[in-house]
Amino acid sequence: MNDTFLRACRGEKVDYTPIWIMRQAGRYLPEYQAVRAKADFLTLCKTPELAAEVTMQPVDILGVDAAILFSDILIPLEPMGMRLRFLEKKGPRLSKPVRKMKDIEALRTIEPKKDVPFVLDTIKILRKRLRKKVPLIGFSGAPFTLATYMIEGGSSKNFLETKKMMFSAPEVFHALMQKITETTISYLRAQIKAGAQAVQIFDSWAGALAPDDYREFSLPYVKETIENLKSHDVPIIYFVNNCGGLLELARSSGADVIGIDWRVDIGKAITRIGKETAIQGNLDPLALFSDDTTLKTKVKDILKKGSRAKGHIFNLGHGILPQTPPEKAKTLVKLVHELSS
Ligand code: CP3
Repeated sequence: MNDTFLRACRGEKVDYTPIWIMRQAGRYLPEYQAVRAKADFLTLCKTPELAAEVTMQPVDILGVDAAILFSDILIPLEPMGMRLRFLEKKGPRLSKPVRKMKDIEALRTIEPKKDVPFVLDTIKILRKRLRKKVPLIGFSGAPFTLATYMIEGGSSKNFLETKKMMFSAPEVFHALMQKITETTISYLRAQIKAGAQAVQIFDSWAGALAPDDYREFSLPYVKETIENLKSHDVPIIYFVNNCGGLLELARSSGADVIGIDWRVDIGKAITRIGKETAIQGNLDPLALFSDDTTLKTKVKDILKKGSRAKGHIFNLGHGILPQTPPEKAKTLVKLVHELSS
């Protein structure tokens, strides 16, 4: 197996810089569209054979150094007791958003084997299929990011309801976070036991918080999650979108790897993170709409700066856009491999 990705996560010596791409299985690939034409998104997530098929696509088509389980961060919210739908072109909707203590008391803590067996079955199929290829990454949302969806009822611009609860009823907010954290821990543990060889925690919206609020309302729950996974000895990646004001705090989460967005200079981020933690990132996803010469310059710069880190895993600074030409994604993988060898 090509274990370059796992080695970089641990800060071990590698022959080249490994790369995978956030949202690498998705709508920019015609091969994904073909499978997706047969089933809606949630059905795809809940059908292990199909989920495994689309997980494999970027591994076979792009040559990335890791596979990531095909699923969604919102999947565990359904067995917690919320009704989840994905509306075409509009994104996720959770009906009856959580607003009051009684809504939180009604939420369940999930039992992964019983509540999300399809996720664990997908992982088992994938480990067989990936045996001579690359490692498999499992994932979850960070408790804060999941809380925003549960409170807002979907995606949000300024997180009005979330911050209202945080600032005016902090004990309600903390009770919700505690419940989500319990679910997140058992969900990630189950993924690791089923065969996930690394896990990524997505804190996509933590960057909307002031540092003091992040320290109080998000970070303790990420720490608790990570502490409860440490004994499993798989690398833990903590991705914080819009991390610029939060890097030192994010590092204190205890993650093995910090994933960063493109709005910070990766060289400066490494200085701030220090020598104990590896780094992942951080090309602007929109760089995949530039010509090959421009792309090469940007990749070179990130690789050069990234080489100072304890370990560097190349990635985009956030998910790849559906409009991205697949050929550019292929070119990116080739460039990273060639320029770092
Ligand atoms: O390839 C991979 O990265 C693995 C699969 C994956 C998906 N979602 C598939 C998906 C992963 C890791 C996620 C994580 C996820 N989901 C996050 C965190 C990462 C990030 O982008 O910040 C978030 C916030 C979500 C919630 C979510 N899921 C939204 C807001 C949307 C709608 C917006 C959109 O891009 O359509 C989704 C849908 C979704 N998740 C799709 C895919 C492939 C598109 C569904 C489709 O095929 O129509």
